[in-house]
Amino acid sequence: MPTPTAHTVSLSRYLIEEQRAGRIDAELRQLIAVVARACTSISIAVSKGALGGVLGDAGTGNVQGEAQKKLDVLSNDILLEANAWGGHLAACASEEMEHSQPIPDAYPRGGFLLLFDPLDGSSNIDVNVSVGTIFSVLRSPEGVSRPGDEHFLQPGRRQVAAGYCIYGPSTMLVLTTGHGTHAFTLDREQGAFVLTQRDMRIPEDTREFAINVSNQRHWEPAMQAYVGDLLAGKEGPRGKDFNMRWIASMVADVHRILTRGGIFIYPWDHKDPGKPGKLRLMYEANPMGMLVEQAGGAASTGRESILDLQPDHLHQRVPVFLGSRNEVEAAVRYHLEAR
Ligand code: AHG
Ligand code: MN
Ligand code: MN
Repeated sequence: MPTPTAHTVSLSRYLIEEQRAGRIDAELRQLIAVVARACTSISIAVSKGALGGVLGDAGTGNVQGEAQKKLDVLSNDILLEANAWGGHLAACASEEMEHSQPIPDAYPRGGFLLLFDPLDGSSNIDVNVSVGTIFSVLRSPEGVSRPGDEHFLQPGRRQVAAGYCIYGPSTMLVLTTGHGTHAFTLDREQGAFVLTQRDMRIPEDTREFAINVSNQRHWEPAMQAYVGDLLAGKEGPRGKDFNMRWIASMVADVHRILTRGGIFIYPWDHKDPGKPGKLRLMYEANPMGMLVEQAGGAASTGRESILDLQPDHLHQRVPVFLGSRNEVEAAVRYHLEAR
């Protein structure tokens, strides 16, 4: 392991330099540093696996009716605890909690709102496949001293920061504050994230798509037509062969797309007509949409830009198409032409 040098840019140094350049303020810098610290703790817990007694079900369900894993609950607690006392946040909201939680009265409240999916891809924990934490930061509205759920309902375009931490063969934090998307790798010996890729760029074109094809019969006709044409390959209307990958951890699928391009799709389907898609707007689609757009990609519901949606509830679900710009635009054309 090379020792850090004057050229090594740690996350702390990166954030301080961003603050000096006037792109973030001290409060947002502290908030991101605390989230990164919480992710380091989650990474340690995840990597212990069976030795840490953290695998398996918690025996509880969340507000979405999903069975919680022990690590879903533990990760949620780690993020809440780490963010409670720093003074930079006004409230937190989580995929695992029915309602948002204002910062306890015992601590000062700051100017930001934090949303998170504490452990994404949790069905993969027990099989030792990459999982992650996704987060999004919004400003708390002016003059609101104790924010409630309604204050979180801001379009993704208003996010001031978004990121994820992937717990894979290495632990990486991928972050945007609206000035590009940058990747940091956890140096476990130093206990610090180190900048390993500045300005990630998603290639505009791709030959790789990610979708759970087992839902095909539940898709709408535009989706059937789009994926049908991808599968037809060189002999079909797209005139090229496509490869397919599906990890079933959004963080891992999006990380691959940020690294080498591709399109990730979780479309609307009528398996459960009450749910417009599976993924959650506030904890998954918006933060990933911002990261992807900041890396030159696109993020859509199939009909409109994800980041422009006005949320109407905290746990709202949306269809998600994101990744290589030209491929997302191609998928959107199938949907718009079908209208
Ligand atoms: P979570 O574990 O936070 O509930 O999210 C799981 C999500 C996402 O990570 C992944 O892309 C998708 O669910 C996989 O869904 P399928 O199991 O339907 O393929
Ligand atoms: Mn998730
Ligand atoms: Mn989750």
